[in-house]
Amino acid sequence: MSTGLEGIVAAETVLSHVDGERGELVLRGLRLEEAARLEFEEVTALLWQGFAPEADASDALAERLGQARLVAFAMAEPLLPAASRLTPVEGLRLLLSAIPDAEETPHHLMAVAAVPVFAAALGRIAAGDAPVPPDPALRTAEDFLAMLHDRTPSADHARALETYLITVADHGLNASTFAARVIASTRAGLFSSVVGALCALKGPLHGGAPGPVLDMLDEIGGEESIAGWIEGEIAAGRRLMGFGHRVYKVRDPRADVLRGVVRPLSSPRVAFAEKVEAAAIAALERAKPGRNLQTNVEFYTALALEAVGIPRPLFTPVFALGRMAGWTAHVLEQEQTGRLLRPLSRYTGPAVRVAAE
Ligand code: ACO
Repeated sequence: MSTGLEGIVAAETVLSHVDGERGELVLRGLRLEEAARLEFEEVTALLWQGFAPEADASDALAERLGQARLVAFAMAEPLLPAASRLTPVEGLRLLLSAIPDAEETPHHLMAVAAVPVFAAALGRIAAGDAPVPPDPALRTAEDFLAMLHDRTPSADHARALETYLITVADHGLNASTFAARVIASTRAGLFSSVVGALCALKGPLHGGAPGPVLDMLDEIGGEESIAGWIEGEIAAGRRLMGFGHRVYKVRDPRADVLRGVVRPLSSPRVAFAEKVEAAAIAALERAKPGRNLQTNVEFYTALALEAVGIPRPLFTPVFALGRMAGWTAHVLEQEQTGRLLRPLSRYTGPAVRVAAE
């Protein structure tokens, strides 16, 4: 038994492979570095259908996603007052839960289309602005930024976000994907499965880390405080957000892809963040020698999302937007090939009491 299920294979999948020793991520036969050059719609189609699609197949998917975004916008409108009383990730949870199982649009398509619409609307309301409807002619990343900011994004920003979405699209049997597969295995349906996945993603040990990464950079403040701040956190037994990973024992390859995305965006944070990164890795090596605690995807996620103008409370919803491609593909795979997931527990409670005579 292992309490964190580490080392346990709980599913077979054709969707992605994480090689934690070599620092490699493969998405259905494509290395992440290759996949990151495609469009998000192409990678979504690759995960769903299992082949690198022709350009027109990606166009067709983009068009269907655009139409589904319009359906999602109409669906969200009456629920936005209630959803916007919550944090954006909680609001997203509410809105996704409200999609009926009887929805006519194919559910995997609807789920991927709905997240950018819901997340952008929640972001706008949180900023005191009215939601902006989707433009079905745009691609997912571009339309999300257009809905959020009510203006056409620069090509650089749209591409940076798109690369981010691909980078997080799928990642083996991570906690949220496992949650999705457990729920799918009961035949509860795709929407229930992805709501469960979102709930798992929300935790700070999984998808909730990038906001705290920026909080950390803010708290550190300036270069002169880096070493002292980091040592203080480690001495207090707190974790440095954006470092360490359950599977990667070397550098998370997604961190490098995203570093390549943020460097050209000339965000003032990047040079400072790279100094914090170097100091954190060195301090973690001193504190936990041999564990090789390295930068994970969340560190550069924080910088990339901030650079394209996404507010911190939307970071986890935007992660969910990318990961929805993987969650839906896993749910489809689980429904087609999997069995009910039902492990055992070992009882460590009190011995059975003998009833008094
Ligand atoms: N800062 C300080 N110490 C750390 C960190 C960190 N970021 N990560 C691990 N450690 C320490 C632990 O305290 C532990 O020390 P101990 O054995 O002396 O108690 C040791 O390293 C191993 O930690 P575990 O918790 O066993 O490692 P696990 O594989 O469970 O943790 C995790 C992985 C949860 C990601 C962890 O590294 C962490 O909490 N990181 C910070 C949060 C974060 O960045 N989350 C995003 C992860 S990426 C993603 O989910 C998309």
